[in-house]
Amino acid sequence: MLSYQHGYHAGNRADVLKHSVLHAILEQRSRNPKPLLYIESHAARGQYDLTDRQATKTNEAKLGVLAFPGAQASPPALQPWLRHLKDKLPHNYPGSPRLAVDVLNQQSRFVFFEKHPTEFKALKANLGDDDRILIKKEDGYNGALRLQPRRGEDMIMLLDPSYETASDMEALADWTPRALRKWPKAKILIWLPLFADHREEELGAFLSELDTGFVAGSGWDRTPDDPSALTGSAMIGLRFGGADSRKAFAIAAQLDAYWAQ
Ligand SMILES: C[S@@+](CC[C@H](N)C(=O)[O-])C[C@H]1O[C@@H](n2cnc3c(N)ncnc32)[C@H](O)[C@@H]1O
Repeated sequence: MLSYQHGYHAGNRADVLKHSVLHAILEQRSRNPKPLLYIESHAARGQYDLTDRQATKTNEAKLGVLAFPGAQASPPALQPWLRHLKDKLPHNYPGSPRLAVDVLNQQSRFVFFEKHPTEFKALKANLGDDDRILIKKEDGYNGALRLQPRRGEDMIMLLDPSYETASDMEALADWTPRALRKWPKAKILIWLPLFADHREEELGAFLSELDTGFVAGSGWDRTPDDPSALTGSAMIGLRFGGADSRKAFAIAAQLDAYWAQ
């Protein structure tokens, strides 16, 4: 389905968890001089103006990234990401591709998949002018499986589907074991929505047991009426070590407490 456009949701509470965990992991990785292949299967447009027509139609960012009082007065684990955003908000909010390109070092190369024609065009306009970046208008699950890190290159991949239909859950259950077999050393990050009716639980348990790493979740709505409403979100990190896992857990726990206030 190609109706989803992330501009309506950019900077919301799900993005806060996803982008702050991603920032923590990539910022740490940027200190490693070894070459890195960074892939996103579901890139969207890369960066957002949180005052534009899409963002202000839903106002989701107002409860998300725009609600923080500033880095110093915010939960400590969120502060590095909020400092990174300091001169960018509200007109240049970095989506995951922009964040990765800005944070990772020059030894990194990037492949971004985006199927939606409008989003693809915007992503090309936002990030296309860099030799290290390849942007492909094709299915990110199949397209990524045709890639291989070069000799001596590490690999990190982010999967961030919209979950508008059950097909993304089925695709992830099929794709992830294949990907772990194909790339025995790649680290994989998956964003997972937490639904009021817990429909994601089986998939979350299945994915998190595929390898070592973390599941870091935080909630914001304890009593929704709608069974398909999101009550929170989680980041699953496969093959990540203790330091990355501790950072992800700290961010999720502090957000959970912050949003419960
Ligand atoms: C949740 S958005 C991604 C947001 C982005 N990762 C960020 O945080 O800035 C999901 C995107 O995936 C795209 N998409 C959906 N199915 C896809 C597929 N099979 N392959 C590639 N892109 C897809 C949608 O058009 C949408 O732009």
